[in-house]
Amino acid sequence: MASVVVQTQTAHSIQSESVYVILQKGNPEKARLNLQYPFFLKHLHGNRLIHDASIILPSQAVLLDSGTGTAKILPTSSTLHGIDIYSTLFPDTSAHPNVHFHQQSITCLPPDWSSSFDFVSQTLLTPALTMDEWELALTEIYRILKPGGHVQFSDADWEQRYSSGGPGGRKLNSLMLALAARHSLMPDFSRKVPYLLQKIGFQGITVETRLLPVGRTLGADGIHGEMVMKNAVDVFKGAVLRLGGLEDARTERDFEALAASLEDDWANGHEGASGYYVICATKPSA
Ligand SMILES: C[S@@+](CC[C@H](N)C(=O)[O-])C[C@H]1O[C@@H](n2cnc3c(N)ncnc32)[C@H](O)[C@@H]1O
Repeated sequence: MASVVVQTQTAHSIQSESVYVILQKGNPEKARLNLQYPFFLKHLHGNRLIHDASIILPSQAVLLDSGTGTAKILPTSSTLHGIDIYSTLFPDTSAHPNVHFHQQSITCLPPDWSSSFDFVSQTLLTPALTMDEWELALTEIYRILKPGGHVQFSDADWEQRYSSGGPGGRKLNSLMLALAARHSLMPDFSRKVPYLLQKIGFQGITVETRLLPVGRTLGADGIHGEMVMKNAVDVFKGAVLRLGGLEDARTERDFEALAASLEDDWANGHEGASGYYVICATKPSA
């Protein structure tokens, strides 16, 4: 049976201490995550769960998915631990006895997890961790990895993220940077995370980026990409309106106009989304 374990912090304190700007934790958020997951898997990772094709894990590997949400990584012979601050997103994995969920923040992992994991994956947590929390999270990941274990981060660099190559994309980029500043979120993931990884002691740090297909002129993948990007505008709309608005985005209508200007970009030769990165690193062998 899959288990949900609440560790020393209470679920309430884990959630209320978090700055996670996307508050959704019900069925619409599950549907959003389930739609975007295959898009990033295909176009950012070439359909590989483990991005670095040279990594060969032991057959009984122990994996951690940080901020697992609806948890898509379901290995066969491996053991997977998924953590998230919201247990409501966890899927039913009763058919997978080797999958375990924990309501837990990546910034504070159980003391007895030290040197226990072969691989850690963390996808799309830039809306959740402040700059200080990133350092805590990376330090915790280093602690729980076995010597020689690997970590993989897939995320957006907010300074470089453009959901289109046109005016709508530039406007959204500026709005997101204002949101990051208000919550002390990390704006420069692709530069800061490698710096912190090196400082903490990781080796073999690699940084890769891909232009993602977004825009209906790019066919089925581009239509899928449009839906992913429009859903993201919608969840960040909530985050901005809860602050009373930012820049010239103050109302629902402003967001409708922003979504429309992105669609115009995609229809008018400014297809593609940039600023998404995969960063990999290894804990040195003992
Ligand atoms: C944008 S979703 C990404 C979910 C999943 N990684 C994916 O790619 O589909 C971010 C997830 O991180 C979780 N989260 C936020 N803050 C967290 C923290 N401090 N520790 C662990 N998970 C966190 C959220 O509840 C949410 O499920």
